[in-house]
Amino acid sequence: MIRTKTLVSLLFCALILWSGNAMAQKFSSLAQTPPMGWNSWNKFACEIDETLIKEMADAMVEKGLLNAGYEYLNLDDCWHGAVRDENEFIQADAKRFPSGMKALGDYIHSKGLKFGIYSDAGCETCGGRLGSLGHEYQDALQYARWGVDYLKYDWCKTENVNPVGAYTLIRDAIRKAGRPIVLSMCEWGHSKPWEWASEVGHLWRTTGDICLSYDGNVSQGDWTALGVLQILDLQVDLRKYAGPGHWNDPDMLEVGNGFTEAEDRSHFSMWCMLAAPLILGNDIRTMSDETLAIITNADAIAVNQDPMGVQALKHSANEGVEYWFKPLTDNRWAMAVLNRNTESRNVTIDWQRYNFTDDEVSKLSTNFDTKEYEIKNVWAKTNVKTKTKSKKTATTAKPINATVEGHDILMYILTPKK
Ligand code: GLA
Repeated sequence: MIRTKTLVSLLFCALILWSGNAMAQKFSSLAQTPPMGWNSWNKFACEIDETLIKEMADAMVEKGLLNAGYEYLNLDDCWHGAVRDENEFIQADAKRFPSGMKALGDYIHSKGLKFGIYSDAGCETCGGRLGSLGHEYQDALQYARWGVDYLKYDWCKTENVNPVGAYTLIRDAIRKAGRPIVLSMCEWGHSKPWEWASEVGHLWRTTGDICLSYDGNVSQGDWTALGVLQILDLQVDLRKYAGPGHWNDPDMLEVGNGFTEAEDRSHFSMWCMLAAPLILGNDIRTMSDETLAIITNADAIAVNQDPMGVQALKHSANEGVEYWFKPLTDNRWAMAVLNRNTESRNVTIDWQRYNFTDDEVSKLSTNFDTKEYEIKNVWAKTNVKTKTKSKKTATTAKPINATVEGHDILMYILTPKK
């Protein structure tokens, strides 16, 4: 009798362990490349409702963004109702979302898109709506019922909350709810999540919020919003922490929100080089053809989505011009020349200067001294004025002379010549 009891308990434990592992595996297979999508915050802040989100869903399909890889449609702050329901479940703001979140999720899914939502580890969100503190399991369950695929989890009103504990708690709550949901951690890099969160979230913000400033931070009173270049500088030392399923997140894109075309192009290119999540933040219903061309550039996106998932390294810099390299699959490399100056710069790219090994992450070498690469110019149609106009495919056998406009970028994909 005792034996049977022991056997049954053992079997029960094994079953629990097995289902736990199966669940963990389900979540660890998500975000194998940096997530791509759209989020409401950068453009619309709290001014969101069901009509707007549905129009975005339509536009994501009609403008070819879904085909280009942008699959998540993410609601940020302020979708919440003022109170929980009688059973303490979180509700949508009934005025702004009269059909409810389940119906909205169904609409988003019917378009072939995935549905993202936002909450906060504290008692209130940054926009003053209801946070998840003390309701983590219930909120995760509600999201699963609504068909949520992506959760951005913010960090306002978290005095006395421990970040490792809070994010692990919501991860476990999501797992328990049983629906695979990408967990996007948004605690602004305060507790160095890159050091502890690779098994907790699929991506973590590395800095405070981005704003519509290309170069220079902007004070917001009690906090500081960051410029594109300032965020970029803060990513340089973090590359070893990123990889498939766990990404550094330098915040959502400001492309199409008011930068110059050159700035949009270099901001987008650098986020691609960084293997950053590509979460658009502009009004995709009304964007210009130039913006659309930038955010759907298939070569730039392929650099971002390369399955090896290695973040670019800053090789060198000279008078405000930076040289970045990102190892890609099949012994290829992406290379970018970023001009941080406001005026144009003439550059000579002598490949022999860039023989190096990425000792820190991929251990791969460029070997320009022994190997010749064919050069594909990612932005060839738009911005490059090279001084040689040979019809032959350019290779790394010869240096490249080019002009890079102020705040603009050159971006190349190098493929070993057969
Ligand atoms: C924080 C986040 C932003 C955005 C707002 C919403 O500031 O970092 O990305 O989600 O909250 O209130």
